[in-house]
Amino acid sequence: MTERIYNFSAGPATLPVAVLEKAQRELLSLNGIGMSVMEISHRSKHFDEIIERAKSGLRNHLNIPENYQILFLQGGASLQFSMIPINFLREGETADYVVTGAWGKKAIKEAKRAGNGVAIYDSEKSGFKSVPTDDELSYSENANYIHYTSNETIEGVEFKRDLDGGGTPVICDMSSNILSKRIGIDKYAMIYAGAQKNIGPSGVTLVIIRDDMLAKVPKNQHTLLDYRAIASKGSMLNTPNTWGIYIIDLVCQWLSENGGISAMEERNEAKAKILYDAIDSSDGFYRGHADRNARSFMNVTFNLPGEDLEKRFAEEATSQGLDGLKGHRSVGGIRASIYNAFPKEGVQTLVDFMEDFCKTHG
Ligand SMILES: Cc1ncc(COP(=O)(O)O)c(C=O)c1O
Repeated sequence: MTERIYNFSAGPATLPVAVLEKAQRELLSLNGIGMSVMEISHRSKHFDEIIERAKSGLRNHLNIPENYQILFLQGGASLQFSMIPINFLREGETADYVVTGAWGKKAIKEAKRAGNGVAIYDSEKSGFKSVPTDDELSYSENANYIHYTSNETIEGVEFKRDLDGGGTPVICDMSSNILSKRIGIDKYAMIYAGAQKNIGPSGVTLVIIRDDMLAKVPKNQHTLLDYRAIASKGSMLNTPNTWGIYIIDLVCQWLSENGGISAMEERNEAKAKILYDAIDSSDGFYRGHADRNARSFMNVTFNLPGEDLEKRFAEEATSQGLDGLKGHRSVGGIRASIYNAFPKEGVQTLVDFMEDFCKTHG
């Protein structure tokens, strides 16, 4: 099959076609050097240009000030769940966690191995449908940091604001909505994100970290778990994911050619609206999972009347070229992931399919 289908997968997710085509053109010989990016040394001038361009692309798009370092790590966003407490939390010390979904729950679990990971908000009992208002959050005194997940990919629950830590460093897992909308980077001490949704392929994790946080890393840390050591060597303590960083560079170029983050934000909001409107106008046949004010623009989660129908929905959709709609195995239901690279026509095609399916089975 050479035709592309609509890929609603939550991650690894669909990439811009222009990026795939450029990578394809350059696969055998990058810029006429006679080798692919996967075959050149990470210490070569060719790769140096790529990693520097990827960093400056991200710096420009996200408006990252000079006192923040941009790192490319491995081990996925999941390794960050451990690296954060390893670097910033010791026995007897406290870190606040805002738990709005399955990923935040995994993050606090790792924090508790190092010190007091305190869940100052946890919506698990009510089914991970909500995000807290500022009034619902009261931070611990002397917390080393506050951690939250700006978009919970599994439940489709998203913060519509940057959390204000009131002076305490804020650390955010932005794996599934980074680059999708404008954010105030200076509100954060550290942001991290697995690349495989909006940034590039899996296997590379973006970390944006403020200099004063690097100064807090304890001495004698294991080198590859030490943010300061990684930053001091420009993410090249060991061999980085060269292919992943190359694709990030191409994605940043694609973003520039397509209006940057503010254009993405507008498009993403419009795409999500089409889907949520279809859910809300289905007379209850489709039921959105998240509270309205917490509805994710990246992962639209909903249910049908019964698991059998949900299974059938996902199967029939797949047979019509709409793939990856089955909800995460832990929660079931349907999830349509519509990141930056996902085209509006694909959302419209899904909505047409939903209307037909509702007519037949509603
Ligand atoms: C919000 C969020 N955090 C963390 C992760 C874990 O990422 P990884 O698989 O890169 O470890 C994911 C994966 O989908 C995610 O969506």
